[in-house]
Amino acid sequence: MRALTWTGVNQLSVEDVPEPQILNDHDVILKIRQTTTCGSDLHLLSGYIPFMRAGDVIGHEFMGEVVETGKAVRSRKVGDRVVVASFVSCGNCWYCAHELYSLCDNSNPNPGITEGLWGQAIGGCLGYSHAVGGYAGSHAEYVRVPFADVGSFVVPDGVSDTRALFASDAASTAFTGVDLSGVQAGDTVAIWGAGGVGQMAARLSAIVGAAQVFVIDRLPERLEQARTHAGAETIDYTRTDVAAELRERTGGRGPDVCIEAVGMEAHSPGPQGVYDQVKQQLRLQTDRPTAVREAVMACRKGGSVFVLGVFAAMVDKFPLGAVMNKGLTLRGAQMHGPRYIPRLLELMARDELVTEHLATHVMPLEEGPRGYELFKEKEDGCVRAVFTP
Ligand SMILES: NC(=O)c1ccc[n+]([C@@H]2O[C@H](COP(=O)([O-])OP(=O)(O)OC[C@H]3O[C@@H](n4cnc5c(N)ncnc54)[C@H](O)[C@@H]3O)[C@@H](O)[C@H]2O)c1
Ligand SMILES: [Zn+2]
Ligand SMILES: [Zn+2]
Repeated sequence: MRALTWTGVNQLSVEDVPEPQILNDHDVILKIRQTTTCGSDLHLLSGYIPFMRAGDVIGHEFMGEVVETGKAVRSRKVGDRVVVASFVSCGNCWYCAHELYSLCDNSNPNPGITEGLWGQAIGGCLGYSHAVGGYAGSHAEYVRVPFADVGSFVVPDGVSDTRALFASDAASTAFTGVDLSGVQAGDTVAIWGAGGVGQMAARLSAIVGAAQVFVIDRLPERLEQARTHAGAETIDYTRTDVAAELRERTGGRGPDVCIEAVGMEAHSPGPQGVYDQVKQQLRLQTDRPTAVREAVMACRKGGSVFVLGVFAAMVDKFPLGAVMNKGLTLRGAQMHGPRYIPRLLELMARDELVTEHLATHVMPLEEGPRGYELFKEKEDGCVRAVFTP
């Protein structure tokens, strides 16, 4: 079958690879209908997650049709149209029992790498390097879905493939942040990053009752989408002092909840950006935490800062004093997909959550490398490239 594979830092190529087989009784094989790029893939392409091997199939946000089921699969059958959580969860361990699905103890067959980095291993993720399991990803004609009873969800009739696609990762990640940061009715929420994740966080904040939602980015077409589809107010961080503007627009207090949806390759126009770039290139820090710093400084006293953007390890010049003295709650997570996907599909079925506008570029899998180029460089207004194998 054809698949988009990693050939080295910054390089992808469409190759012939063997079709996936059922390896475990809880697996299903899915024929991919749609699969999309995620900001997390850019961190792989830029070489900041150095646990890829040549030939690995990438991609973790996808939906498709079940074409084969393992002997122990109970709730899925051939022909089901399903969307699948990007992280893999067993459904049985302590973490899964506590709905912390991306922390699953049984889904990452290579725990040593993340144990070394973070003290404990996290769960596995499809198509996202050997640090999180080395699973083949979804940018292919077929993919193996482990523990399919836990991680796959039947798409209701009437919800389009493209709408459901984003329940797989962007919207479920956003819901993880909105829920676990404790957004309450009446809150003011500020979100850094207007990619798929940030936009979904804005819309879901409004759905859970936030009174005021800000989205911060510099790309006009994305800010326009955040205004149109999430009803958010927007701030271009290249034109203003973000923390000062947020204070001014919130009666001097600052947002109750700040959600960072930018990650380790944050852009920064000032001298701090140059400093972070140099330190990251010299490996004196692994990540550029520009937006996290800004979120911590902008958040109201006693508020909550949630890190959804992906970070690898160590950062420099982190305002820990502000976290402590302002009484902030600082939290982060990879997505706990199965906890949120059923509710997301209900919202989608009622047209309360629409996602189709994120799919700005739809193309055959053969054009995967070009799709990633557009997405990486944010060219031609690309928010997400969607591949239809
Ligand atoms: N926690 C999870 O489970 C999970 C899941 C999916 C994605 N992610 C992460 O979420 C982040 C966003 O993903 P995405 O798909 O939306 O990515 P994306 O690349 O489409 O969007 C990132 C946005 O951040 C903006 N940005 C850059 N620097 C900024 C700054 N200083 N201030 C404000 N905005 C800035 C960019 O202009 C861009 O629009 C990535 O780090 C990704 O790895 C995490
Ligand atoms: Zn992702
Ligand atoms: Zn588990």
